[in-house]
Amino acid sequence: MSGPAHPPRPPCLLRWILAFVAVAGAVGLGACGAAAPDREPGTEVIALGAAVYQANCATCHGVSGAGQPNWQSRQADGTLPAPPHDASGHTWHHPDAVLLDIIRRGGEAVYGGAGLRSGMPAFGGQLTAEEIDAVLAYIKTLWGDAEREYQERLPEQ
Ligand code: HEC
Repeated sequence: MSGPAHPPRPPCLLRWILAFVAVAGAVGLGACGAAAPDREPGTEVIALGAAVYQANCATCHGVSGAGQPNWQSRQADGTLPAPPHDASGHTWHHPDAVLLDIIRRGGEAVYGGAGLRSGMPAFGGQLTAEEIDAVLAYIKTLWGDAEREYQERLPEQ
């Protein structure tokens, strides 16, 4: 009576094992693809940074980070136009500590010692530390490999 009930069980279990292996494999491959070079932030960090950038920075630095025209010439009010954040600018000439300080405290607090005027606002009061880190991680995606490698080797100061 109970004889024929058993044989279907092993194939069913086998299918579960195969399904589990397939899912685990897909998750493993996904994680592998997302984790590119050392210290590369996860894609959620980049997505957060992109949203913060478009909402707070793009009006001056440009939607794609191209900056404002004639960004190297001081204007009548003594300020410089917003520089590009892509490889054509000089954001990548500064170490993380300096860039984070500029974003938190603004251009005048960082550069204004000699009475220099700056149009870069301070974001430390409106963005969280996580958002500021994320926006910098996003800005780095606008650089090429050469700029990223150069910037990563700068001494932190
Ligand atoms: C109101 C316009 C404006 C907005 C908005 C703005 N910036 Fe700036 N930013 C500037 C200007 C102008 C400079 C150049 C400052 C100087 O040299 O005096 C600058 C400089 C910088 C620098 C230094 C770049 C370098 O090469 O030295 C960083 C980093 C930066 N901004 C990041 C940001 C981020 C991140 C945001 C958004 C959270 C942002 N900025 C929003 C105008 C702006």
